[in-house]
Amino acid sequence: MQEVVHNDVMKRNVNRQWLLNSRPEGMVSENNFRLAESDIPKPKMGEVLVRVLWLSFDPTQRGWMARDTYVPKIPLGEVMRSFAVGEVIESNNNPDYNVGELVTGLFGWQDYIATDGKGMTGMRKVPKGIPPNLALSLFGITGLSAYFGVNDIGQCKSGETFVVSAAAGAVGSIAGQVAKKIKGCRTIGIAGGKAKCDWIVKEAGFDGAIDYHSEDVGKRLSELCPQGIDVYFDNVGGPILDMVLERINLHARIVLCGSISRYNTNVPFGPSNYFNLTARRARMEGFLVLDYAQRYPEAVQALAKWLAEDKLKQKEDIETGLENAPKAFMKLFKGENFGKQLLKI
Ligand SMILES: NC(=O)c1ccc[n+]([C@@H]2O[C@H](COP(=O)([O-])OP(=O)(O)OC[C@H]3O[C@@H](n4cnc5c(N)ncnc54)[C@H](OP(=O)(O)O)[C@@H]3O)[C@@H](O)[C@H]2O)c1
Repeated sequence: MQEVVHNDVMKRNVNRQWLLNSRPEGMVSENNFRLAESDIPKPKMGEVLVRVLWLSFDPTQRGWMARDTYVPKIPLGEVMRSFAVGEVIESNNNPDYNVGELVTGLFGWQDYIATDGKGMTGMRKVPKGIPPNLALSLFGITGLSAYFGVNDIGQCKSGETFVVSAAAGAVGSIAGQVAKKIKGCRTIGIAGGKAKCDWIVKEAGFDGAIDYHSEDVGKRLSELCPQGIDVYFDNVGGPILDMVLERINLHARIVLCGSISRYNTNVPFGPSNYFNLTARRARMEGFLVLDYAQRYPEAVQALAKWLAEDKLKQKEDIETGLENAPKAFMKLFKGENFGKQLLKI
């Protein structure tokens, strides 16, 4: 299928591109994007031509569409920015990358990109033996976020109680498993729906699950964490963060990884139980995985070892066809993805 699409594109000599058409207000929609076609770019001196093969979908892209964040917003009319994996298919005297190599970078929602590899987050080679999907999931920003969030910010210790939200998602499922199987924590996940809750307990090995769609989260937290909460890995923000803050222990750590429940609204929502941070001498700390780039090899090595030892269950949700990129992206905000959302072009 992939080859058919590619050959068709080559024959037509076009580069399909999803452009940012408008900035989202409220829930992101298909109207925020526009499909266009342009010539396949020619690599300039020192550049390579990359055929994009796989796209990664990350909630942070919603922020990139709307405003300047930790990176400048995507200009209107430009290709939708996205982490991706591609293959170098042509080189115009670039000494660093060879034709045939798999590479990863911010290639965007398009078939081809000509680049010198020095863009916003740079371009990295996918290590030999790592399949492209894993390069974007377990070894991409989501697995790496779980690793640094649990280790460096959460500083989890054996015997502690660890709670994670969006627990069946790309970051949450790995964070919970590292906390449970590597760090020895008692691990509770919060997720939407029975299927996801069943999976985190039966497949991923969590000690308990809370379905925030159908259960009283506060009550269930009290039942499942009778000794209180030592580490909360927060992926969603909003009222769930408040319910956790009500139940934190002395010297608890709140890992602020993301707050997806607020990404599609402009209405601010602050935690009202923050005073517990003082009473319990606890700490809330945000982090960005991009700040850990120098230590990615350490994290990849550890995650690869745990995967080989069957300590990590890795779940991916794979769509196909570049034309379906907006639909795949919107699944993140409706809880329709189950595991790391990817798209195979
Ligand atoms: N700090 C960093 O460097 C960094 C890096 C990567 C990701 N992140 C953050 O990590 C979080 C998870 O990202 P991910 O890539 O792993 O995505 P993901 O968890 O695989 O997918 C998003 C999930 O969020 C949940 N969700 C969506 N809307 C929600 C809402 N209104 N309330 C509660 N839950 C909601 C849904 O799960 P349910 O069905 O369970 O609701 C959905 O499946 C995001 O906040 C993201 O921004 C941070």
